[in-house]
Amino acid sequence: MTKVQLEVRGRVAVVTIDNPPVNALGAAVREGLANAVKAANADAAVAAIVIASAGKAFIAGADISEFGKPPAAPSLPDVLDAIEGSAKPVVAAIQGVGLGGGLEVALACHGRVALPGAKLGLPEIKLGIIPGAGGTQRLPRLIGAAKAFPMMLSGEPVSAGKALEYGLLDEVVSSDVVTAAIRLAEALAAEGRRPVTSAATGELTEADREAFEALAREALKKADGMPNVLALVEAVRASFALSFAEGAAVERKLFLSLVADERSKALRHVFFAEREVAKVPGIGPEVKPREIASAAVIGAGTMGGGIAMCFANAGIPVTLIETAKAALDNGVNRIGAIYDISVSRGSLTPEAKAGRMALIKPAVGLAAAAGADIVVEAAFEEMGVKQQIFGELDKVAKPGAILASNTSYLDVPTIAAATKRPQDVIGMHFFSPANVMKLLEIVRPQGAADDAIATAVALGRKLAKVPVVVGNGFGFVGNRMLERRTRAAERLLIAGALPHEVDAALVGFGFKMGPFAMADLAGNDIGWRSRKARGLKAAVADAICEAGWFGQKTGRGYYIYPQGARAGQRCPEVEALIARISAEQGVTRRSFTQEEILARLLDPMVNEGARILEEGIAARPGDIDIVWINGYNWPAWRGGPMFWADSVGLDLIVKRLEAQAAEIDDKALEPAPLLRRLAAEEKGFASLKG
Ligand code: 3HC
Repeated sequence: MTKVQLEVRGRVAVVTIDNPPVNALGAAVREGLANAVKAANADAAVAAIVIASAGKAFIAGADISEFGKPPAAPSLPDVLDAIEGSAKPVVAAIQGVGLGGGLEVALACHGRVALPGAKLGLPEIKLGIIPGAGGTQRLPRLIGAAKAFPMMLSGEPVSAGKALEYGLLDEVVSSDVVTAAIRLAEALAAEGRRPVTSAATGELTEADREAFEALAREALKKADGMPNVLALVEAVRASFALSFAEGAAVERKLFLSLVADERSKALRHVFFAEREVAKVPGIGPEVKPREIASAAVIGAGTMGGGIAMCFANAGIPVTLIETAKAALDNGVNRIGAIYDISVSRGSLTPEAKAGRMALIKPAVGLAAAAGADIVVEAAFEEMGVKQQIFGELDKVAKPGAILASNTSYLDVPTIAAATKRPQDVIGMHFFSPANVMKLLEIVRPQGAADDAIATAVALGRKLAKVPVVVGNGFGFVGNRMLERRTRAAERLLIAGALPHEVDAALVGFGFKMGPFAMADLAGNDIGWRSRKARGLKAAVADAICEAGWFGQKTGRGYYIYPQGARAGQRCPEVEALIARISAEQGVTRRSFTQEEILARLLDPMVNEGARILEEGIAARPGDIDIVWINGYNWPAWRGGPMFWADSVGLDLIVKRLEAQAAEIDDKALEPAPLLRRLAAEEKGFASLKG
């Protein structure tokens, strides 16, 4: 079937793009568009042209899967030049999204009509690139750089209403957008002169240039060296200084070099991995999620409160349950205070806050969970506690309700065994702060019903999370790998590195925080308690906790925090304590380069990731990457740990792990069989796809 159809209606040629699912501008579409515009121009019976689309989207942009492959003619800029250069006026009929190259198609047209639900944007920046088919030149000329630049910098689309206000659209119609576009096209044709092109229109004034330069200065300050932001500023600047053709050439050159950059490759990987993660092996569209109209959350602590907020934010009524009134009141007050911060920042109206608080119904006692379609338990992380709660829930919860535990480490089937309905028991592991962090690990124990998992996935999306289905096993995916990094960080201290050096290596890599600053923020006592429960020791971490240095909340941890400061300072006492422990263990301390530190922290994580894949705890390497990007702030432009490993080369990672394993008594450092096999075959984790 052809992806672009041409139909002449009266004196107007309607060109319809039909390339499911989102009308991306792959080679066949580009060719079809170019041919259709040419044919319409050659047809004497045609006075004007409309570009429309089939399906929900207008056009979602260039076909991202073609990036990095040899270019196929015609290029998008050439097609758009042909549209803009058409002797007969061309009008875009926009429904749904017009993004990236999709908006660029519309910009090359001589008129634009849209439905109210349309969304228009240039999201290229999120893929590490900039618009590459004239967007940086046409949009500023059409609506002014002071409006165009922020759209391209944020990548966020604007509504049809906003686009109309900006002058980006000529008309918004409530229905039948194609008929409205035909009407506009006929009117433009009736004017009888060559259509005015967006490239020729002039919103670019001196005042606009000054406004843009002020915005550009701000953007460059925050850019942190990201080449796409630098390129965007350069391209938009060119729209003031150069002719359209020269500016477009500057843009194209910058675009092509960014597409080839490792950072954009990583972000494209993340784009596709995020979509793949939504596909759960063995659960097809025939498995229908159960309806979730109400929820209950057990435990009104920080975690439970955050989870209740997620439900309220999504408009789902939620009963927040505690064992005693005092704890419940505390929890509700904490939630109110968090919403108040949003109100004071202007991101939430007082009315919206009131609406959300009204959805949260505090209650004492598990009986209040009786009416809920889903119950999320966020009580103390101890098997006995969880089993008791699930045993009771089994008695009160309604039949078919999903019973989910927000456990971070515990065995979900053991929790499920406390009920007579293990098919309805799953894990839903939120990340702190639960109302902010995007990741949701959905733990799928053997015996859980497929529709229970499908329900959790659908619900996760409704809660604005990135749900990742993982297998049952200690620490699931994220925390299991984190534990390898935590151990490596402790070992580095004993071997000779200092906390600030270890943290600096990870911050230099792109994390917001290193492991020690993070531990101080979260509270060192949490890990200490968990180690004690499991009979584990970590000499430095334990000594710090024994001294009562639990982190920011006690004013000191690995660092000192004078008067509640959030940024820690080096602590001579901690550094002396570390040196003493090295001496006690007979270790001659040595210095480490940042590169060595990174390898020691990250290679063991990759190794654990390989085991997680071998055991089927994660379905795909990309799933692990999504976990780390959304739950642990792994920099997205580094693509996640498994993508990073591929970029380093698995052979090198195996060699480095072998060297560590020879020096350190830790079996976990032995390269995993899957890692060895891929390295021997000179392949990467990416080869495991599909
Ligand atoms: N290229 C290739 N495939 C794309 C695509 C694109 N631009 N946009 C979406 N898809 C695919 C997805 O991979 C997915 O495939 P799958 O079903 O096989 O997993 C399918 O379309 C549906 O996508 P979503 O699951 O994301 O569907 P949603 O309905 O949730 O969202 C969307 C639709 C808002 C269009 C979203 O997909 C999106 O934001 N797409 C990317 C838009 C974008 O970044 N465009 C700019 C591209 S770069 C560019 O145009 C350069 C130019 O300046 C030269």
